[in-house]
Amino acid sequence: MRGSRRFVRFVWALIAATGLVTVGAVAAWTVAMAQHQHAPSMEGMQKPDWLVKLAPAARTEAIQRQLRGFETTMAEVAYRYTEMYWGGIDGNWEYAAHMQGEMGKALELGLERRPVYRKSAEQLFLKGAFVQIGEAIQKKDAALFKERIETLRASCSACHAAEKHAFIKIAVPTVRRNPIEKP
Ligand code: HEC
Repeated sequence: MRGSRRFVRFVWALIAATGLVTVGAVAAWTVAMAQHQHAPSMEGMQKPDWLVKLAPAARTEAIQRQLRGFETTMAEVAYRYTEMYWGGIDGNWEYAAHMQGEMGKALELGLERRPVYRKSAEQLFLKGAFVQIGEAIQKKDAALFKERIETLRASCSACHAAEKHAFIKIAVPTVRRNPIEKP
């Protein structure tokens, strides 16, 4: 009799222990699922599909729109003009040459998007002041560089005046844009 009662108690203990383990497992699984759902990664990792979702005929136009026009070209030109200036002032001529070259490229790409500005760009800038500032940089001539910055900024402003943006008058930069060490 005593033996069988002990056996029943043993069986109950076993059931209770199994139950506890199960409860623990379910709790752990619930926590894991909750964390999974709240993970920030899923949305951000989805491939952007705004362009592929458009009708094929609308895509080229959307790309054209997103490439923007001359205003973004000019934001880059102004950035490179400013950094070219500080390169010359610091005697960091390679940096100045890099910025001058990239400024020319940016302008060329902008003219591909907005050919309406090509005539003014060539006449007032690309064939004159832009080449001359390049020469001063190649010569590493600080005095000549400062002189030609004056002609360059006048050319920027002349083109703005010619292209109905006379209110954008370009000055000599006062603030650096990049944290560049002086040579
Ligand atoms: C083709 C002649 C032309 C030349 C050369 C030119 N610009 Fe511009 N620039 C424009 C036009 C046109 C706009 C207005 C573009 C628009 O809003 O679509 C403009 C706008 C700007 C703007 C305002 C950009 C913005 O955020 O909307 C800045 C800054 C600027 N130019 C700087 C310069 C500097 C600096 C130079 C010379 C190193 C220069 N530009 C040379 C034609 C020119």
